[in-house]
Amino acid sequence: GSAGAAAAFTLAGCLGGGGSSSETITIGSDIPYRPFEYETTEGELVGFDVDIAEAVFGELGYEHEFQKTSFDSIIPSLNNGNFRVIMSAMTITEDRAEQIDFSDPYFTAYQTVIVLNSSDISSKEDLQGVTVGVQKGTTGESAATSLKEEFDGDLTIQSYDQVTGAFDALRNNQVSAVVNDNTVNAAFVDQSDNVRFLEGPGAAEEQGKENAPPYLTLTVEEYGIGFRQDDDDLREEVNGALQTIRDNGTYDEIYSEYFSG
Ligand code: ARG
Repeated sequence: GSAGAAAAFTLAGCLGGGGSSSETITIGSDIPYRPFEYETTEGELVGFDVDIAEAVFGELGYEHEFQKTSFDSIIPSLNNGNFRVIMSAMTITEDRAEQIDFSDPYFTAYQTVIVLNSSDISSKEDLQGVTVGVQKGTTGESAATSLKEEFDGDLTIQSYDQVTGAFDALRNNQVSAVVNDNTVNAAFVDQSDNVRFLEGPGAAEEQGKENAPPYLTLTVEEYGIGFRQDDDDLREEVNGALQTIRDNGTYDEIYSEYFSG
């Protein structure tokens, strides 16, 4: 059952500096989403979000624990009270902000496109008429939907419950490309010897982003931690802690652990 599945993926946090609360903050997340939340071969939950959660909730003196949940239903799950917050490499969007509240942004991301090395697709225009894989309910799916409109409907979108489903489909030639967040695509490209990014300037350059990734970007996005709309006090505490870990160097330490070079 789902309760057992959730329990198998819990990770207890440590009590941090000086807080008096013994409350445990439960964190909904869709796993795997490497390098943000994924399991090592030993079954340990690790990732950028996992370390940021530890730093933030440790700073506030709360215990915390991750709960595995599907990405597509993560917002209704939060609002139903299945967990207290969302940390799932989640992009702040207008649609979502009507249903939940977000922390201040904690990470910049871009939608990007990967294909097999052997593919003859080399530009955004070459995607017209092909089938692309995305994770269901993500901004990758929205970016693919915009592409489809750009191509007057001449694009097929295959949605998978987890991003690994889309990656497997690419490997197996069931889709010609995957649209997904840049650093997650990059982790997959690094692990594969036959996958590459589409190149070319895109949204990042249009929006004048410094440190833009060296490949085609369809969007510029910011990740936020998600809260129920009646949870302002916790949201403000978390914003304070995010600022603290930026000021004291913890954020940069965690960042360089996952995104060196
Ligand atoms: N950033 C994208 C979005 O918000 C993808 C997030 C998927 N996260 C995950 N843990 N599977 O839609």
